[in-house]
Amino acid sequence: MKQLIVMSSVVMGLIVGPPSSPATSAGRLPPEPAVARIKIDLDRTIGDVDPLLFGNFAEHLGRMIYGGIYQEKSPLSDAFGFRTDVLQAVKGLGVSILRWPGGNFASGYNWKDGIGPKDQRPARPELAWNDVESNRFGTDEFLRYAETIAAEPYICVNLGLGSIGDARDWVEYTNSPKRTYWADQRRKNGRDQPYNVKYWALGNEIDGPWQLGHKNAEEYSKFALEAAKAMRGIDPSIKLVASGSSNYGADWLLWNRTVIQTLRNTVDYVALHTYINNRANDLEAYLGGWQQTVERYIDTTRGLIREAQTGPNPRPIYIAYDEWNVWYRAFNEQKLEEIYNFEDALAMGMFFNTFFRNADIVKMANLAQMVNVIAPIMTNEKGLFLQPIYFPIAEYGRQRGNTSLDVWVSSPTYKIPQRLQEAKYLDVSATLDPRTREVVVNVLNRSKDRDITATIENQSGSWAGPAAVWQMNHPDLKATHTFGDDQKVRPKTSTATLTGGQFTFPAHSLTILRLKTKDAKEGKENEGAR
Ligand code: AHR
Repeated sequence: MKQLIVMSSVVMGLIVGPPSSPATSAGRLPPEPAVARIKIDLDRTIGDVDPLLFGNFAEHLGRMIYGGIYQEKSPLSDAFGFRTDVLQAVKGLGVSILRWPGGNFASGYNWKDGIGPKDQRPARPELAWNDVESNRFGTDEFLRYAETIAAEPYICVNLGLGSIGDARDWVEYTNSPKRTYWADQRRKNGRDQPYNVKYWALGNEIDGPWQLGHKNAEEYSKFALEAAKAMRGIDPSIKLVASGSSNYGADWLLWNRTVIQTLRNTVDYVALHTYINNRANDLEAYLGGWQQTVERYIDTTRGLIREAQTGPNPRPIYIAYDEWNVWYRAFNEQKLEEIYNFEDALAMGMFFNTFFRNADIVKMANLAQMVNVIAPIMTNEKGLFLQPIYFPIAEYGRQRGNTSLDVWVSSPTYKIPQRLQEAKYLDVSATLDPRTREVVVNVLNRSKDRDITATIENQSGSWAGPAAVWQMNHPDLKATHTFGDDQKVRPKTSTATLTGGQFTFPAHSLTILRLKTKDAKEGKENEGAR
């Protein structure tokens, strides 16, 4: 279904992305030495870095499932058909929550085709991506996989072509302890205890005209409300995610307002999706423009949630950024096998810094996707390689459970073509490990060609000892990996003494500094304990 793919490309990238600028950006900084200040106050907190920010997504699309995580009869697979080399790489990513089975695929999927003896499962036409679904990987395989990688499973029900009854039955199959038909089917298929799947999405991108069973905001909201009622009738403890708008055209705000208003007493999250691109081949506009866009989606949605939260005891609702990534080179290619380069690894820092700075409201995020399809891990019959984006994702994941800090930054700025707001060259977030009092400072230097020296000030005391440094930098922004050659765009680690609190962030680099603090009041050193 090429057409479907093309339509989503327009929606997700071309309309709202940073505008084009000359292909050869000469860098925008004046020649004098670039200096910046980063002020960190341990009392200025934003919110907890929810472990669910380090989620991922596994859709039945191209080689994500079949030939990706699951390959029957491969010498690299275990008895369940899971590729063990892939399992190891996935575990290294630290995936906290895994969304499945789509994506667009979800809107045409009948989960009942994917249970029971594999040889008796029907093959079906797959209309979202113009493929055939063998159904050999279904609910029990997915839930076993999530257990194996110690991730929360997150199931997206079919609110496109599917029925409310099917959504309810799915919850019964996975979660019910009772002796009822679908729970007994689960037992018959080898799983006695309920899986207790906690996170459920009420459909995927239902606002998009490309979506099977696309609806308008009123139709969707009503349908989702009734589906939620039936699903919670089986298991009242489940957490529900509304399909927010991914169609970032004129009426995305209207969609989100209607959905949030209608479901404000029902859902726990509203989903946002963003795919970014560097079609203009301008690093600074790529990293700065998209940051402003993502920040704006979050801010606007936060406002819509606040607007809906009237009355004395409103239901908390958060944002689940349950699809995000770079996606453009493989946009019209059926398998979406995007090859990522060094500058895309920098873009991972842009996304995580933005999520951390909005940690009060963004409580779930899922990279789209995990293996082969717009993914950090690429496989063939014989093995795999890790794309440059793999490394920042794994490293940022170490900050789960920390407290995000409201950092004050002064940095040289630059103008992005056709944007009102200037961007700071340094894109910064910071978190505090409340157990060790270690501070982690995440700094993306977006300048194409200038190093920037920043003074990192601790408003609550001082830094103790040298900083641990994790850094990604490479002379070639377009450097990529492939099979047998995935060592060159990788992070380097070192230690650095911050004389006068200063650290120089090289041009086009992503740096994560771990700093031990000395408490101003107690004069006591807090050892980082990693
Ligand atoms: O992740 C690829 C696709 O992007 C998903 O199926 C869909 O939800 C989005 O448009």
